[in-house]
Amino acid sequence: MTWDVAVVGAGAAGMMAAATAGQRGARTILLDHADQPGRKILISGGGRCNFTNLKADWTYYRSENPRFCRSALARYRPQDFLSLVEKYRIRWHEKELGQLFCDGSARQIVSMLEDECRAGGVEFRLGCSLRNVSHDGHVFMLETGQGSVRARSVILATGGLALPKLGATDIALKLARQFGLRIVSPAPALVPFRLEEARPDLAGVSLQVTASLVGRKKPVFTGGMVFTHRGVSGPAILQISSWWEGHEALRLNLAPGRDAHEDMRLICQQRPRAHAPALLEALPARLVKVLVAGTLDDRPLAEQPAKAVRALAAQVNDWVLHPAGTEGYAKAEVMRGGVDTRDLSSQTMEARTVPGLYVIGEAVDVTGWLGGYNFQWAWASGVAAGQAA
Ligand code: FDA
Repeated sequence: MTWDVAVVGAGAAGMMAAATAGQRGARTILLDHADQPGRKILISGGGRCNFTNLKADWTYYRSENPRFCRSALARYRPQDFLSLVEKYRIRWHEKELGQLFCDGSARQIVSMLEDECRAGGVEFRLGCSLRNVSHDGHVFMLETGQGSVRARSVILATGGLALPKLGATDIALKLARQFGLRIVSPAPALVPFRLEEARPDLAGVSLQVTASLVGRKKPVFTGGMVFTHRGVSGPAILQISSWWEGHEALRLNLAPGRDAHEDMRLICQQRPRAHAPALLEALPARLVKVLVAGTLDDRPLAEQPAKAVRALAAQVNDWVLHPAGTEGYAKAEVMRGGVDTRDLSSQTMEARTVPGLYVIGEAVDVTGWLGGYNFQWAWASGVAAGQAA
């Protein structure tokens, strides 16, 4: 038989696309090489799935063509997904900054999407690996581990390269190339850094920082960071990693919103016998020790050379660290880059030069910030393709 729509990848984007296509009456098959759908959803948000962000619009995404995602995100909004969640009576809460999580478990989101697919009569074919796709002039032929599948439209929703142990593959990029679509170089994103000057002595130390990249005014992220044995991680670090091009130094303000030099000057006036750690008491003690070790001796701060105090203050407000690299796809939350949006319709996600071929979700060069934005892109691009395919 020839299916109207074959969706490859039963992840967030693929299940949404299949449910949408099925519910509009298209005979739809959904293939995945995993033996269960939505494996990344299941582990997302610490098992509670940060399923959307109320603030999600195009300004929260990185892409070579930042406005590409605007149309799909405007047509399927966080509120639309939330309505679906509420229809299924899934209890949720807002954690911070518009991030919505399940009260219970991410499994509820997967079950909801499975039910939505069933409501559209979608046939699931799991444990079924896609190997190749060709087009004979009339229909697409999908070569899979369970034989061939014929379909009038194909939606590629096989995600990116992050977390290979969960079955991530480069099949979307390979097939896109084969069909003549351009690729924006992929790289791990929302990923911890390894540092040239790793600080295992600081491992576990966490604090609030502002993170940016040397040589660039934007973007700047304020949030938590944590030292690891090999480098740095935490929300502010993961966010800035999506903009790292492989060479820039990392710039951290360890006292966001405060002028450390001015703070120290005032404290020296008020408490002339105070030592540096007292002045930096808002920072973790282990970190203060490291900062002070390179700049001051053990005299009270008021007796330290002005130059040394300035150097310490500069480190607090502008500490420059040199990444040796990232922790790679094994630890990345997403892949950035992917199928070049110039070759896709922003309305439907259809390839401009290959009618009937659609690419959605993380496989496309649209990378969200941390905090539910990547799922919102998966839902929105899935709906756009599911309506059109
Ligand atoms: P996704 O990766 O979900 O699905 C792709 C599917 O294709 C998989 O089921 C895979 O098995 C299948 N596949 C691959 N190759 C195949 C082949 N050759 N043949 C057949 N099937 C194949 N985002 C967010 O917004 N909020 C959050 O809380 C989190 N949390 C989070 C935690 C962790 C640990 C990670 C790694 C990631 C997140 N994310 C997230 C990111 C989010 O999970 C991600 O952006 C979406 O799952 C992308 O959805 P896709 O459907 O595009 O790919």
